[in-house]
Amino acid sequence: MDTYLETERLALRHFTADDADLLIELDSDPAVMRYLSGGTPTAPELIRERYLPNILGQYEKWGGNLGLFAAHKKDDGAFIGWFILRPEPEGPLDEVELGYRLRRAAWGKGYATEGSRALLDKAFRQLGVRMVWAETMAVNHGSRNIMKKLEMTLADTIPTPPDMEMIEGSQHGGVRYEITKEQWEQQ
Ligand SMILES: CC(C)(COP(=O)(O)OP(=O)(O)OC[C@H]1O[C@@H](n2cnc3c(N)ncnc32)[C@H](O)[C@@H]1OP(=O)(O)O)[C@@H](O)C(=O)NCCC(=O)NCCS
Repeated sequence: MDTYLETERLALRHFTADDADLLIELDSDPAVMRYLSGGTPTAPELIRERYLPNILGQYEKWGGNLGLFAAHKKDDGAFIGWFILRPEPEGPLDEVELGYRLRRAAWGKGYATEGSRALLDKAFRQLGVRMVWAETMAVNHGSRNIMKKLEMTLADTIPTPPDMEMIEGSQHGGVRYEITKEQWEQQ
């Protein structure tokens, strides 16, 4: 396996053109998609024709250092989901977004926090990143708890995008958390 990053329990790797089924299965669970689409699965053809080619294209664009990474348990190799560490499409390379989407079977075991912590460390120590941000719906307490555990700071509230207005809790808007290299090094 081409390993991008290892933690105590997880190995993160680059996705390949053969991984569409993993992404389709992940996005087929309404619980996983609850705060992303209101529970609607992502259409398989969208994943095959648009999302996966985009993921692979971003490795080329950013030299494999930034993008979306598949996470597997080291003990049995099971795919548990993915993490994002990536800039805005046309944004500066030293400001990157952190994100995560895990299979339901992997929730509540600290994996999202463990993977995120290692990604922040790599971003600040090796990749020249100055600031990491993360956004989620205000009511997505699972996601917000990870940001808090990472000691990210609530930086802003954000309006719900029009395409997410049908999601339960969208009237409460979204939140943006940030952490700088300096803040990370002080921890
Ligand atoms: C959000 C998500 C990544 C959490 O993953 P996870 O591996 O369960 O997170 P962790 O185990 O690292 O939990 C971090 C903290 O949040 C808490 N937490 C996790 N899920 C929670 C929930 N639904 N409600 C409240 N707290 C929650 C955990 O208890 C833990 O705190 P603790 O260590 O003090 O107990 C996972 O539920 C997921 O993939 N959800 C679907 C996709 C999604 O919403 N992604 C975020 C979009 S912005």
